[in-house]
Amino acid sequence: MIKLENISFKYPNSKTNVLSDLNMTINDNQIIAIVGKNGSGKSTTAKLLSGVLKLKKGKITIDDTDISKFKKSKDLQNNVGIVFQNPENQIIFNNIYDEISFPIKNLEKSEIDKRVDNALGEVEMSSLKDKELYSLSLGQKQRIVIAEVLARKPKYIILDEPTTMIDSFGKEKIYEIIKNLKNQGYTIILVTNIADEILLADKVFILDSGKITHEIDKSDFISNADIFKEYGLEIPTLLHILVELKKSGVDIDLKDLNVSEFVNYLKGKLLNEKLN
Ligand SMILES: Nc1ncnc2c1ncn2[C@@H]1O[C@H](COP(=O)(O)OP(=O)(O)OP(=O)(O)O)[C@@H](O)[C@H]1O
Ligand SMILES: [Mg+2]
Repeated sequence: MIKLENISFKYPNSKTNVLSDLNMTINDNQIIAIVGKNGSGKSTTAKLLSGVLKLKKGKITIDDTDISKFKKSKDLQNNVGIVFQNPENQIIFNNIYDEISFPIKNLEKSEIDKRVDNALGEVEMSSLKDKELYSLSLGQKQRIVIAEVLARKPKYIILDEPTTMIDSFGKEKIYEIIKNLKNQGYTIILVTNIADEILLADKVFILDSGKITHEIDKSDFISNADIFKEYGLEIPTLLHILVELKKSGVDIDLKDLNVSEFVNYLKGKLLNEKLN
């Protein structure tokens, strides 16, 4: 479990707090989404959580360890990995093995090889492992960045707008990877402004002017859809449809429903009606 308590943060060159008295509890083995308007403080929160920025006021605990107890930022990053929007800013090497193994280069060779292989498998890139990184698509590069994080074996993975630059095929692939990682026990913290991505989440935190204003569980998405709109996020089409159906008296549980499952559900209903 990750706990953020009374976090306030100000950049050295800014006059006002970017985060003020922010509190948040992230439970294990969930996909949680952090959403909010531009400049609301999402990336700042993500960077504090992963040790990219140093906490000045408040407390962050990871599985009951105060993160200020981690001597090196490397130690924190072995617990909490972070992936940013543009994979090209995170990639140093042209060789995939060199890239993924770089943060774990002090381990034994056999352990490094095992971790690199496993991580490539997780992001479905094993068959492309001999390619040069420059020749890959942005979506594939992002999967290599995710593999690099996985090779460190963190329990928590933060993805800060990981698909913004990636085409729709690449996006779908990353959604699959995110869902698979959750099924394996990881906790995923997804910072996003893409409407459909909130449907991946078990819980959404809305950030506004450096504070969490709402915490909405998936089971409450339908009844709280207007709140997403209020904070600058479009309502995902599927959610919109379910909201309208609810208004007309048809209650469908969102659960892990996606568009194709919903279509199958409708097909079943229509067939039944025809038969009756
Ligand atoms: N390095 C920095 N120095 C000074 N101010 C910064 C810095 N980085 C971000 N800020 C400011 O802090 C506030 C929060 O920024 P942050 O990047 O955390 O927001 P965000 O919610 O991630 O926005 P976006 O949706 O655009 O990614 C903004 O007002 C931003 O201008
Ligand atoms: Mg941001």
